[in-house]
Amino acid sequence: MFLMKDIVRDGDPVLRQEAADVVFPLSEEDQQLAKDLMEYLVVSQDPEQCKKYGLRAGVGLAAPQVGVSKKMASVLVPAAEENGKSPFTDVIINPVIVSESVQQGALTEGEGCLSVDKDVPGFVPRHDRITLRYYDVNGEKHQVRLKNYPAIVCQHEIDHLHGTLFYDHIDKDQPFGRDEDTIMID
Ligand code: NI
Repeated sequence: MFLMKDIVRDGDPVLRQEAADVVFPLSEEDQQLAKDLMEYLVVSQDPEQCKKYGLRAGVGLAAPQVGVSKKMASVLVPAAEENGKSPFTDVIINPVIVSESVQQGALTEGEGCLSVDKDVPGFVPRHDRITLRYYDVNGEKHQVRLKNYPAIVCQHEIDHLHGTLFYDHIDKDQPFGRDEDTIMID
């Protein structure tokens, strides 16, 4: 099981590399990696276990964040009726965003990352809606339309597979500037 000591932090070159495509069928090593990436999220979202293991709670974890430069990431966004968050959970492999809305979306609180220890304030403008194509651990191809929170999380994770970190998107001169019609997501 991954612990915080296993999470690669900002400054490590692996976080800035273009990750390699994953080959199917998955090797045993890659299958284990997929399980471990998802397990971290499951455990970290359980408040008791999160505390017990000293984790930071996460909704996404990309392979480069554990030092493996491959196009694989786990995403665990549970449903939340109260704020209309629609759920999305899977290990996404070789993901590609095949289309995206012109309309932008951004998290009201800004973004955070398990690999970035400092708090970087500012809005991270992203596409509010995306069509995501990816393969699951069984090699099955999926194409899903996502909007708002899960769309943002997937864009953040896919960025990791291309060597991009969330703060790269923050406008340095106007960190809280945004297009008027940006959808702000709680
Ligand atoms: Ni991240």
